[in-house]
Amino acid sequence: MSAFPPLRHLLLRPRLPLSSPPSLPLPLRLPRRRLLFSAAAQSFSISSTTTQDDAAESVDAPVSGKDSSLIDVNPPRGTRDFPPEEMRLRSWLFENFREVSRILSFEEVDFPVLESEALFIRKAGEEITQQLYNFEDKGGRRVVLRPEITPSLARLVIKEGKSLSLPLKWFTIGQCWRYERMTRGRRREHYQWNMDIFGVSKVRAEAELIHAIVMLFERLGITSVDVGIRVSSRKVLQAVLQMYAVPEHLFTQVCVIVDKLGKITREEIEKELMLTGVSSKAAKGIINVLSINSLSKLEEVLGSDGEAVADLKKLFSLAEYYGYSTWLSFDASIVRGLAYYTGIVFEAFDREGKLRAICGGGRYDTLLSTFGGDNIPACGFGFGDAVIMELLKEKGLVPDLVRQVDDIVFPLDEELEGPASSVVSSLRKKGRSVDLVLDKRLKWVFKHAERINASRLILVGNSEWQQGMVRVKILSTREEYEVKIDQLQ
Ligand code: HAM
Repeated sequence: MSAFPPLRHLLLRPRLPLSSPPSLPLPLRLPRRRLLFSAAAQSFSISSTTTQDDAAESVDAPVSGKDSSLIDVNPPRGTRDFPPEEMRLRSWLFENFREVSRILSFEEVDFPVLESEALFIRKAGEEITQQLYNFEDKGGRRVVLRPEITPSLARLVIKEGKSLSLPLKWFTIGQCWRYERMTRGRRREHYQWNMDIFGVSKVRAEAELIHAIVMLFERLGITSVDVGIRVSSRKVLQAVLQMYAVPEHLFTQVCVIVDKLGKITREEIEKELMLTGVSSKAAKGIINVLSINSLSKLEEVLGSDGEAVADLKKLFSLAEYYGYSTWLSFDASIVRGLAYYTGIVFEAFDREGKLRAICGGGRYDTLLSTFGGDNIPACGFGFGDAVIMELLKEKGLVPDLVRQVDDIVFPLDEELEGPASSVVSSLRKKGRSVDLVLDKRLKWVFKHAERINASRLILVGNSEWQQGMVRVKILSTREEYEVKIDQLQ
């Protein structure tokens, strides 16, 4: 016969003299206020619009004269807190990034978020260089919070030099900072999953990267009906510039200007192109080529013997073999806004056109030489956390992730804190996740068990402890039993 009273009796009986939770001093109440404001502050799962951000700013002011010393509990504009429920989603997404990278046999690398400003100074007029979080550190060095990871990757490849065995396939997940105008899914900080391949000059590297992207989408429940990956090559523009005898040194600038199509009008693009020294005829020719969206049309315009057409044909043919061709389409307007791309470029978009690019990447065979290193063929992509979460919300695909703890250990008497701690310690050594609960009523413990999805409740009582026993309740079946402590698994 058990020395424990049945649990339902314990539920009704007041346990040890327990005082109600002590009232908290003011600073400890702060998190509650933060939670109240979290919708406006746009945490991970909440969509972002400029209006909401403005609303968030308007609640930054102290609540009343009495609270005037209270600090602003919102994170800086455009940045996010990650309370546990948001953090669970972020971790889930990152686990998927990591798993896909593992499946494609990529190695993980990491870099400092703070980098030297010189790494990000480029003269092509890219938006990203105008959005830098840059400042001077206490030693007078110009530094930035990195807006992207590719330059850090290039820096490390140069630093490691000949010790690297090519090809190398690296992935990383890290926070990036851009002083952006905020729209849905675009923030001032975001996390980016990057996969990059160094040392492969052939299009099969791009085919592998796109395979990873498609695999990620599929793992998240997104199909090719929801998302498309638009592909082109900067070599298309290069060929057009040659056709119009535009000097080669204007190539990068032209790409950066042309990438603004859709954000500014055709006429404005034309004007900007002409300001760089491109003739009006060439500017019109460049813009016309951007509207081509079939490979056969491209072949008609550029001929079939150029690298642009050959690369694209090869990529589309490999896509058939990989089995992801329904995701891909050729679209000459995909140029990408970053200066360093040299070949194939691609971006994934929601087919409804509600969001900005979900991810983007391409080939950048000459980036290393811009930092003084020897060039190595390279390509990669960046995949942000914010736009994909918006899309998952749109599609009802955000998983319902709950906290999951294996056991709750609860001593029925204050003096049993020590024995309960030893039960906790032995279970944790076995790898179980265990929450030790003290100073609460049993009713609270049951509610808590439900909240945290505990599988078992382990009660440590005085007389049972004397006999080397504890009582176990399986919470899903309500089954109860006693077990010797050394047999508790
Ligand atoms: P990107 O197109 O500038 O490329 O960024 C890649 C992805 O990061 C975007 O498609 C988007 O998902 C996310 N992203 C960028 N800016 C923001 C923002 N302000 N808020 C939220 N998400 C954002 C690059 O950064 C290249 N370095 C990618 C790359 C890697 N190319 C070769 N290797």
